[in-house]
Amino acid sequence: MTAVGKSVVRLDARSKVTGAAVFARDLRVPDMLHMKLVFAGRPHARIASLDTSRALTCPGVHAIFTARDVPHNLYGLMVADQPVFCEDVVRFVGDRVAAVVADTPEHAAAAAALVAVQYEDLPVLADPDQALRPGAPILHAEHPDNVLRTIRLRRGNAAAAMASADVVVERTYTTSYQEHAFMEPEAGLGYIDEQGRVTVHGAGQNTHDDQRQIAEALGLPLDQVRVIYGPIGGAFGGREDISVQLVLALAAWRLRRPVKIEWTRTESITAHHKRHPIRLHYKWGARRDGILVAAEMDIVSDAGAYASTSTSVLDNFLFAATGPYNIPNVRIDGRAVYTNNISTGALRGFGAPQAAFASELQMAHLAEELGIDPITIRLRNCLRDGDLLATQSPVPGGVSVAELLEICARQAGAVETSEGWHLPDVGQAGNLAQAKKRGLGIAVSMKNAGFSFGFPEGSTARVVLHGDTEIESAEVHTAAAEVGQGTHSVLAQLAAERLGISVERVRVVASDTADIGDAGPASASRLTFFAGNAVVSAADMALASWRDEDRPAVAEYRYNAPQTTPFDPETGASVNSVSFSYAAQAVEVEVDAQTGLVRLERVVAVQDPGRAVNPQQVRAQIEGAVVQAQGWAVMENFVTEGGRILTDRLSTYLIPTARDIPSSVETHLLEKPDPEGPLGVRGVGEAPFGPLAPAIVCAVRDATGVWFDRLPLTPEAVWRGLHEG
Ligand code: MOS
Repeated sequence: MTAVGKSVVRLDARSKVTGAAVFARDLRVPDMLHMKLVFAGRPHARIASLDTSRALTCPGVHAIFTARDVPHNLYGLMVADQPVFCEDVVRFVGDRVAAVVADTPEHAAAAAALVAVQYEDLPVLADPDQALRPGAPILHAEHPDNVLRTIRLRRGNAAAAMASADVVVERTYTTSYQEHAFMEPEAGLGYIDEQGRVTVHGAGQNTHDDQRQIAEALGLPLDQVRVIYGPIGGAFGGREDISVQLVLALAAWRLRRPVKIEWTRTESITAHHKRHPIRLHYKWGARRDGILVAAEMDIVSDAGAYASTSTSVLDNFLFAATGPYNIPNVRIDGRAVYTNNISTGALRGFGAPQAAFASELQMAHLAEELGIDPITIRLRNCLRDGDLLATQSPVPGGVSVAELLEICARQAGAVETSEGWHLPDVGQAGNLAQAKKRGLGIAVSMKNAGFSFGFPEGSTARVVLHGDTEIESAEVHTAAAEVGQGTHSVLAQLAAERLGISVERVRVVASDTADIGDAGPASASRLTFFAGNAVVSAADMALASWRDEDRPAVAEYRYNAPQTTPFDPETGASVNSVSFSYAAQAVEVEVDAQTGLVRLERVVAVQDPGRAVNPQQVRAQIEGAVVQAQGWAVMENFVTEGGRILTDRLSTYLIPTARDIPSSVETHLLEKPDPEGPLGVRGVGEAPFGPLAPAIVCAVRDATGVWFDRLPLTPEAVWRGLHEG
């Protein structure tokens, strides 16, 4: 291997470190105008009147756009249910009613404040229970019960098997919202390019999804719309949906002038979706030896005002709900429910972290009730090659969960004896003040790559080879979005590997719909796998044409993943996924019983990347996921009240800083090749998010004797749990 397996310096490292990288917020062109949006600021109301006449007379104002100006006013990544501008009703505080375009940002803001909207407030559906109540207001006419999506799975006979179980654990878990908190709030520039195309230069997770939604909303043919991404300050799922792209395209199209927008942090937090809060009612039964016999699950997720990716996130529960375990009898019923809260959707893990939280805590409770150690009970049940998932399709090949768990347990200090595994007692470590208690927890998780369930997954790449007698340079053309995860560097490494040249000779030309076909989104742990497969094949084909003396040698390839199938609506049966990745983590916490503060003293993270194309980047993904999962588990507390967001800035919505995170994350990689991945690659970005939160809850239990079922474990919540029972 010449390029793969090496921690080569990222292609964008220098430009990011020196500040040379031009982010969407940095874009400036002569003659550009500035946009400010008018947000609803209320969770549910009828628009009685909308008057822009006064705002239009403000200094510097060029135009004000409302619903009347949008040819097709409904959009959405998966379900077109969200108005570009609301016309009759607003359904959450972040709904938009108008866009003001002016010569300066200040003039745009001043005029936006004078757009006069008269609202008649409507009853607010502040949670799914209220939305499901008979007689509740209907938020979308197509869903008179406010249920956006229902899932149903029946494998074996769960009720009969449950009755035969020696022990049954039945608990309800509640997970919390999470904000993406990417570094760069939404921004972009819309303009008409030299070929007359409506162009948006911005930041997102899939240029081609943005392009399609813009074309649909404006009623333009696809080739009249162009989307370009430059460097992006983070995404984490928060840029899967359209944010500013549509309104920029609309303004540029109508005004024939460049138009820029930059959201404030509060606009960003208020207007883009969040991770789903989900209530998970879990009932699992096992035999005395710990073998799982039945699982029954009812889950309800708060979809918020619009669909976003709620349908797909819920679908993922059909196989994620049982964790990486083989359970022969399963019943799942789930609903995603519209409310007047902020929409919920993709955030690193796409539903898998919520599933892992419940399923791993079920395993911990079962282990405790049966007197079996947490490693042994998992090893007795975990998926192995050839096992069936809850959806009754075979788990994709190369299952590594058992190996990862054993490595993780050993690294955490556990020893295997004839009676099972003994975890170290960390409660006695050091000279702890009396109020401080230490504990250890361990958990595993899995994550699929790609959207699954019949979604046509693929990726296009083009490789161009320049030179005469030797390949002097290679270009990799791809629409794969570099959102900070390092995908362009990894694709360059895969190309260099196949071409037999050094990475320095590979240039990545990326993320312009006018240049290359769809790579699919930077999401679902999928780019190294899907775009990687496309690049590897395009490189192989370009090399063949190079050997045929073509100069330059050019090859374009579309990788189409093995087809998955939609689930049967009655049984949930389906071929759901192409590839899975797995992670195991152990965490040692210190709990301060006086303040309720949970500190992470030690994290052991073990993961299978299939093949680590760039080991340093894999480790960085794991460290980043651990920190983000720590935020979700013990710090980040997104507070809403009657649909209003009380934590709309980073001074009230606290995310981990350098002072909060563990001093190091001990990462261990096991490379078990994925049969379908390029050179054996699996996805790496999401799997390491899953185990941390349940491992922390287990560690807190080990430290204090108290179980928690609800996220986040803020100091206040922990203190109450310890002192109020
Ligand atoms: Mo991701 S949560 O699939 O953008």
